Amino acid sequence: FFFTPAEFVKSATSLHMIPDNTIIPEVAFIGRSNIGKSSLINGLVNRNGLVKTSSKPGHTRMMNFFKIGDRLSLVDMPGYGWKSRDEWGGMILSYLQNRKNLRRIYILVDPSHGLKESDTQIMKLLDNSGLSYQVVLTKIDRLSKTKYQAAKAAVEAELVKDAICCYPLILGVSSKTKDGLDDLRATIIKAGQL
Ligand code: GTP
Ligand code: MG
Repeated sequence: FFFTPAEFVKSATSLHMIPDNTIIPEVAFIGRSNIGKSSLINGLVNRNGLVKTSSKPGHTRMMNFFKIGDRLSLVDMPGYGWKSRDEWGGMILSYLQNRKNLRRIYILVDPSHGLKESDTQIMKLLDNSGLSYQVVLTKIDRLSKTKYQAAKAAVEAELVKDAICCYPLILGVSSKTKDGLDDLRATIIKAGQL
């Protein structure tokens, strides 16, 4: 199974602490606090507890690097909305803009709330920097199928406007029921050209 075994590599609070291995393809998970970034990484690698999660927003406070053998590197990020915008913007944006092996950024969005201004601001920055990103709707177990379809259509409609670097497939996942995780794994493999 491609996404196991996963291991923790290191936490970084500043750019110079980021692992210097830039050979392994990397993908990063960003999004508002409490959106389910850390839970999603546990789901992807099928190991609850590899990444610490919490019901309280603002749990992940550092950039945390994980890897699966020497095949793939996964990065969990502090949520925006918790760190001050400047702080988040400073370190994380500069990581996103300069990381050579970063193949795609996954932006996690809660379908019951839709895109927030913080999401669209980040997307604009990524578009301006020519960085590939893809939207993942999280916690889809909490919505009925009909409500989920409507929420997805609403996000899609907002994205067509000018999200030039947005991969045009929106995924829905639940770390709780594992729904959608295989599709997400497939796009990660494709993005990483693994
Ligand atoms: P920060 O580190 O604070 O930015 O949050 P995060 O985005 O890493 O969220 P985290 O994975 O810690 O999850 C936040 C809360 O949402 C926890 O209580 C999780 O149990 C819950 N959660 C995460 N994924 C799902 C899901 O797929 N379904 C449901 N129902 N709850 C989820
Ligand atoms: Mg987290």
